[in-house]
Amino acid sequence: MPGAADAPPFVVLGVSAGISAYKAVEVCRRLVDAGVHVAPVLTERATRFVGKATFDALGSEPTQIGLWDEASPIPHTRLGQRADLVVVAPATADLLARYAGGFADDLLTATLVATAAPVVVCPAMHTEMWEHPSVQHNLAVLSSRGVTVIPPEEGRLAGGDVGPGRLADPALIVERVLDLLGRPVGVGSPGAAAPATGDLAGIRVVVSAGGTREPIDPVRFITNRSSGKQGHALAEAAARRGAQVVLVTASSRPVGPGVVVVPVETAADMEAAVLSRSEGADVVIMAAAVADFRPKVVHGSKLHKTDGVPELILEPTPDILFELGRRRRQGQVLVGFAAETDRVFERARAKLVGKGVDLMVANDVAAEGVGFDHDTNEVTILGADGSTTEVPLRGKNAVADAILDRVCALLCAR
Ligand code: CTP
Repeated sequence: MPGAADAPPFVVLGVSAGISAYKAVEVCRRLVDAGVHVAPVLTERATRFVGKATFDALGSEPTQIGLWDEASPIPHTRLGQRADLVVVAPATADLLARYAGGFADDLLTATLVATAAPVVVCPAMHTEMWEHPSVQHNLAVLSSRGVTVIPPEEGRLAGGDVGPGRLADPALIVERVLDLLGRPVGVGSPGAAAPATGDLAGIRVVVSAGGTREPIDPVRFITNRSSGKQGHALAEAAARRGAQVVLVTASSRPVGPGVVVVPVETAADMEAAVLSRSEGADVVIMAAAVADFRPKVVHGSKLHKTDGVPELILEPTPDILFELGRRRRQGQVLVGFAAETDRVFERARAKLVGKGVDLMVANDVAAEGVGFDHDTNEVTILGADGSTTEVPLRGKNAVADAILDRVCALLCAR
């Protein structure tokens, strides 16, 4: 029986025996920061990867492992009945098989079988295991029963191999859990949840900001003059207006309350972070100055003058906004930025059409007090419907509100 309406949501955090079990600590901490009551349940073998004491300290109640630890002989029914949601991170191939098969031979699987609450599984394993037909079959079985699967990311795995299998970003897992619980996603700053009122209440907004850094070697990189101020102002303004905001940023500027911050460095990091979050978003605003080119070869150790002048061969980065336009789902609002120094409107209009967005915010960064690193900005918002809205020189917060006014109008019209 889930908790009373005003009680914090009760979430069972299941942890099975994978290398990425250490990342479940971050999931636990972020959920507790967001006001969730977290009951950690580890499998016996998970304790070989991460300690019970850590979850005892960070969770909302003592960690449980065995079916026989509690005075009560039926802890799984207590947990299963009380849960508003059960999330398993990481979910190993073995755990998925046992859950899909209906096995209940330890506290975690018994809880999974005993609950009627929504269940989220976050698989993590080596690529070969992830691609094995038995794992994919078990996931299909679980999905067909209504279990939410947060797929693993591609990246470096234990042992140095690269491929799909890495546990999804803990921030993303927490966002999805809060989303399923119907809670505001304002976990970036503990205790500062997004307001439930405002003209963007309930709207999920993803904003990108800052100039990406493309490494040459461990101490050098290519970047641009973007400060991230306009993107951060947009994220903060959207949160003030009640939206659930995720800010994917390459800038280290501070961020106001109610915004989930996902720090990134390169265009590739930004692409992964934005695309994975855009699926569930109502609005995506690409205010970031994404580097257009990156060094083809990134040197693993510092280059020295004595090695001679290095030849820098560049390759294009992925066009994130173009990809968002291609994948866009019905009703989603897409906003791009075009910072130009000449033929401003012509270039901005071409980008609006070419990238398939609803609004393109054009600014002439050669003008006085406009664009990079200034606290003020002057923009023209071009609409796919042929409209233009001029926003004269003013603070970046006011410019952010003017852009969000246009976004709101589009959302209302859909
Ligand atoms: N953008 C992106 N991915 C890239 C480059 C740009 O998502 N690799 C987005 C920016 O965040 C911005 C919009 O596309 O919202 C326009 O960016 P801009 O740099 O002005 O345009 P480019 O596509 O890079 O074209 P050009 O090099 O001709 O200026």
